[in-house]
Amino acid sequence: MAYFADKVAVVTGAGSGIGRALVVQLAGQGCHLAISDINEENLAETVSLIPKIDQVTVKANTLDVSDRKQFSAYVIGVMAEFGRVDVVINNAGISGRDVTMDEFDYADYERVLNVNLWGVIHGSHEFLPHLIANPGSHLVNVSSIFGLVAPPMAGAYCASKFAVRGYTEALRTELRDRNVHVTCVHPGVVATNIAAAAGLDEETINTFSTRGLTPERAARKILKGVERGKARVLVTSGAYLLDCLQRLMPGGYRSLMLPIIGIKSNKLK
Ligand SMILES: NC(=O)c1ccc[n+]([C@@H]2O[C@H](COP(=O)([O-])OP(=O)(O)OC[C@H]3O[C@@H](n4cnc5c(N)ncnc54)[C@H](O)[C@@H]3O)[C@@H](O)[C@H]2O)c1
Repeated sequence: MAYFADKVAVVTGAGSGIGRALVVQLAGQGCHLAISDINEENLAETVSLIPKIDQVTVKANTLDVSDRKQFSAYVIGVMAEFGRVDVVINNAGISGRDVTMDEFDYADYERVLNVNLWGVIHGSHEFLPHLIANPGSHLVNVSSIFGLVAPPMAGAYCASKFAVRGYTEALRTELRDRNVHVTCVHPGVVATNIAAAAGLDEETINTFSTRGLTPERAARKILKGVERGKARVLVTSGAYLLDCLQRLMPGGYRSLMLPIIGIKSNKLK
C-alpha cells in the first residue's frame, strides 16, 4: 500500500506550482486532502486536476495563511471534517521584490514575512496539538535554498526563509521524542509561477521556466523525503551545491554563489 494511502494531508498554497503537484500526487496515492489557497480560481483548477479515486475526500477552502483568525477557524473546520490529521505541509509562499535592501520599505518586509513566516507559524502552531495527538504524524515546512544561503536582492525573502528553517529545526528538536516527524524543505529553482506572481523581470521569470525543476519532480522528491522522515529535503542539485558551499565557506561563499543562482554582478549596484 502507498505510504500516504488513507492518511489525511493538509496542503497550503495548493492553487499553483509545488503545492498543486503535491496535492495531485498525494491524491494519486489515495490520501484524503484538506487543501487551501488565497486564490479561489486557481484552487478550483487544482481540484479539477485531482485524480478521481473512490473513498478519497477533498476539502478545498480559500485561506490567507497570514491571517491568524482565519487559520484558527480553518483548523477547526479541518478537524471537524476529518477527525485527525497525519501530514501538514505549510507550502504557501511568495517572492519579494527583486531589489537591494536600500530600496525596500517596511511594506515589503511585512508582506513577505506575513505570508512566508507567519503563514508557516500559524499552520504549525494551530495544528500542533492535533499532530502530537496522532503519533507518527508529519509536519512539513517549506523554506528555500535562500534559507541556507543569502543572495543579494532577496532580503525579505531570506529573512523569512532562514526564520522558517530555524523555527522548523527547533520544532524538530522538541518533537523528536513525541513521535511527530518534522521536515524542512529547501527547494532550489522550480519552474512555478512564483517569479511571475511577484512581478519580477522577464529574465528572472525565464530563468525559473527554463532552468527550474518541474513542480512534479520537486513534489515527488519532497514526498519521498517526508515518507522517510527526513529532517530536511534539498530539492535540486543546485540546492545540494549551495548547501556544500555554505558549509565549506560560511563567511565567503558570495562570489561562488552568484553564478550558481544565476545572478549577474552587473545587476547589483
Ligand atoms: N519555485 C521555486 O523556485 C521555489 C524555490 C524555493 C522555495 N520555494 C517555495 O515553495 C513554496 C511554493 O512556491 P511555488 O514555487 O509553488 O510558487 P507558486 O506561486 O506557484 O505557488 C504558491 C501558492 O501560494 C499561494 N499563496 C500566496 N500567498 C498566499 C497566502 N497569503 N495564503 C495562502 N496562499 C497563498 C499562491 O496563490 C500560490 O497558489 C513557497 O513557499 C516558495 O517560497 C519555491
